[in-house]
Amino acid sequence: MKFKEQIYGMKAYQPGKPIEEVQKEFGLKEVIKLASNENPFGCSPKLKEFIKNNDINYAIYPDGYAQELRTAVSKHLGVEENQLLFGSGSDDIIAIISRALLYPGVNTVMADPSFSQYSHNAEIEGAEIRKVPLKDGKHDLEKMFEAIDENTSIVWICNPNNPTGTIVADEELSAFLKKVPKEVLVVLDEAYFEYITDPAYQDTLHYVEEYPNVIIMRTFSKAYGLAAFRVGYAIGQADVISKLEPVRAPFNNTVLSQKVAIVALEDQEFIKETVERTERAKRQYEEFCKKHGLKYYPSQTNFILFEVKTDSDVIFQEMMKRGFIVRSGNALGTPGFIRVSFGTEEQNSKFLETLEGVLKEQGALV
Ligand SMILES: Cc1ncc(COP(=O)(O)O)c(C=O)c1O
Repeated sequence: MKFKEQIYGMKAYQPGKPIEEVQKEFGLKEVIKLASNENPFGCSPKLKEFIKNNDINYAIYPDGYAQELRTAVSKHLGVEENQLLFGSGSDDIIAIISRALLYPGVNTVMADPSFSQYSHNAEIEGAEIRKVPLKDGKHDLEKMFEAIDENTSIVWICNPNNPTGTIVADEELSAFLKKVPKEVLVVLDEAYFEYITDPAYQDTLHYVEEYPNVIIMRTFSKAYGLAAFRVGYAIGQADVISKLEPVRAPFNNTVLSQKVAIVALEDQEFIKETVERTERAKRQYEEFCKKHGLKYYPSQTNFILFEVKTDSDVIFQEMMKRGFIVRSGNALGTPGFIRVSFGTEEQNSKFLETLEGVLKEQGALV
């Protein structure tokens, strides 16, 4: 068969291990997954009620244009409805943007390590991938700018960055956007936007008005706690968005996902609580790292990447045996570190107590 040459040797996305699989493998009753940056506090309580009482005709296709959700998001953000593109999660938006702008002969610039889907999609499209190493866990925008040439099509800025959780300060971003050639699309992936508390980050929406070549991506999967429903979106200037619309699959959000996203958006109190609880969780982990002299990156997200002073695959395995799923830095391009999504206060306490034991056992703590 005539598969694209680049498909050979590519692997499917490797998600965090599913809870059921770990339960079975290690004969565990309880397994806590702290691997996929999901919201441990669930989602707005208003949703349960809504889903119970909502009557959907399963035989009818969804509104492909997501009009009701579009109106709700445009009001929430204060942008025009035609400035929005909806996707089945922001994963879908990344695929749409890549499919529209990448092909053999062009290149795309991204930080390393950063979210894997930028390079994954670029590889499928046969574009050249230019990875620019992070500088102390942060995007090195100077080097990223140097990596741009006349064949560059997209620059990805993961802000805050997955897996380090760090932000690009507004001052730096502003200087970068001023310099970037106007024919290069700059994608600001803000999957963790709601969690940011550092004032060095300033709302980026105005950049979309100033620069036609800027697109912002946000999602309902993280702070809104709707990862199961797969709703993400992009914000850009109307004529840029209209170029991406034809690439979108016709019905890429379900009827129910569109509806629940609207209900979730209305409950900003839940987001506020989530952010407050996440801040508390962050302090639990930072204190642990400080106590044991483990290097960590200052996170503006619902996860933290920190050093384990030994092989991170070993810690990943040992923690899994004990019922905790995390991400090993070896799989994320940060060997010697693990990435842990914050859980509830109780889960975090249990996790950190167990980790302390494992690290001691491995001779990583003195
Ligand atoms: C930086 C970043 N972007 C995008 C995504 C994809 O999110 P979703 O497709 O659920 O919206 C993730 C998920 O982990 C992420 O970390």
